[in-house]
Amino acid sequence: MRILLGITGGIAAYKAANLIRAFSEQGHIVQALPTQNALRFIGKATLEALSGSSIDNDMYQDVHEVRHVELGANADLIVVAPATANFLAKLANGIADDLLMNAILASTSEIYVCPAMHTEMWQNPATQANVSTLRARGINVMEPASGRLTGTDTGPGRLPETEEILSFVMGKKPLIGLAVTVTAGGTREPIDQVRYIGNSSSGRMGIAIATAYRDAGALVRLVACNIELPMPAGIEVVRASSVADLDQAMNNPCEIMVMAAAVSDFQIDKPFEGKLPRGEASTITLVPTKDLIADFAVKNPDTFCLAFALTEDGADVEAISQGKLLSKKVSAVAGNSISSLGSETSEITLVTKLAVLRESGTKIELGRWLVGAISKIMSRA
Ligand SMILES: Cc1cc2nc3c(=O)[nH]c(=O)nc-3n(C[C@H](O)[C@H](O)[C@H](O)COP(=O)(O)O)c2cc1C
Repeated sequence: MRILLGITGGIAAYKAANLIRAFSEQGHIVQALPTQNALRFIGKATLEALSGSSIDNDMYQDVHEVRHVELGANADLIVVAPATANFLAKLANGIADDLLMNAILASTSEIYVCPAMHTEMWQNPATQANVSTLRARGINVMEPASGRLTGTDTGPGRLPETEEILSFVMGKKPLIGLAVTVTAGGTREPIDQVRYIGNSSSGRMGIAIATAYRDAGALVRLVACNIELPMPAGIEVVRASSVADLDQAMNNPCEIMVMAAAVSDFQIDKPFEGKLPRGEASTITLVPTKDLIADFAVKNPDTFCLAFALTEDGADVEAISQGKLLSKKVSAVAGNSISSLGSETSEITLVTKLAVLRESGTKIELGRWLVGAISKIMSRA
């Protein structure tokens, strides 16, 4: 893997040398990127020699190469160790005032952050609020170790040992090699050549699930229906627009199929050719579309299929999801309500033949929760 290792200006910056060596010994390619303050604690020569690549943290050097975008896009994984209180605050607020911050903001890769600072700085409500913000956004923030800090003081705030950082970063990959397809976004059924029947699904939930599977080591294929959000790195993205496109894109074997896309229940019987002129009354006839996940489940009996049930606010989500579990013959149904469409947060009722589980939170949190819940259900089957 290509790892971008951000190093910030704390006393533990010298330990980044061991981390570069450890990642390299595991066969990874490390690009070290220290902040200006980190270079007060560790020499550039040490970082260059150990990583085997030159270091230039000047944002405005080789401007024509737009290095912050290149660094962000080229990284399969971003690790920041040690991470100062200042860095946590900047990342939580999207401040882009040096090459490291710009590269991170320009990247869609998975991010691991290993804070190290004095106990009081770590426990300061400002730092804790920043850590909560970062975790809610899906950034992996490691708990610092307890022990001897600068000088004679001790307490939580120490940079964990290299081995612990390695297992924090690499150990979260229990699903290595698992083939997962996630559909996301909303389909569009043409009325004429320019108009369509669509829906307001943003694709956020599907992207969060695809990202959580990627982070767990799975090989993820994301079928993206009319999504305007940026696509996560390290995922195969297939674009689809109509129900027919989506049907075709789903025709690929996988071990887990997550049907998070909002699929139109209707299509126009005969879409008009060209553009319907203004001023004339027109009648359109809607016909039902194919139930894609039910069809996929029948054709792929060994695949774990998760369907979504979008219910009206106030409806009995559990009963509706139970009904879909039987009618679609899928492995599980995630019921949620219309108010979650386009929102950053949601509440999910996950129904299987054996259990009903509930969780609420940001879609990023729910994506991770669903991946864990599905793994548990599959291990019991
Ligand atoms: C001797 C010394 C040690 C420091 N150690 C830490 C530390 O361990 N953690 C931390 O968050 N800040 C530490 N700081 C403060 C940071 O260097 C300071 O907040 C700086 O602005 C961080 O810059 P950066 O985040 O851009 O690298 C230390 C400062 C000094 C002078």
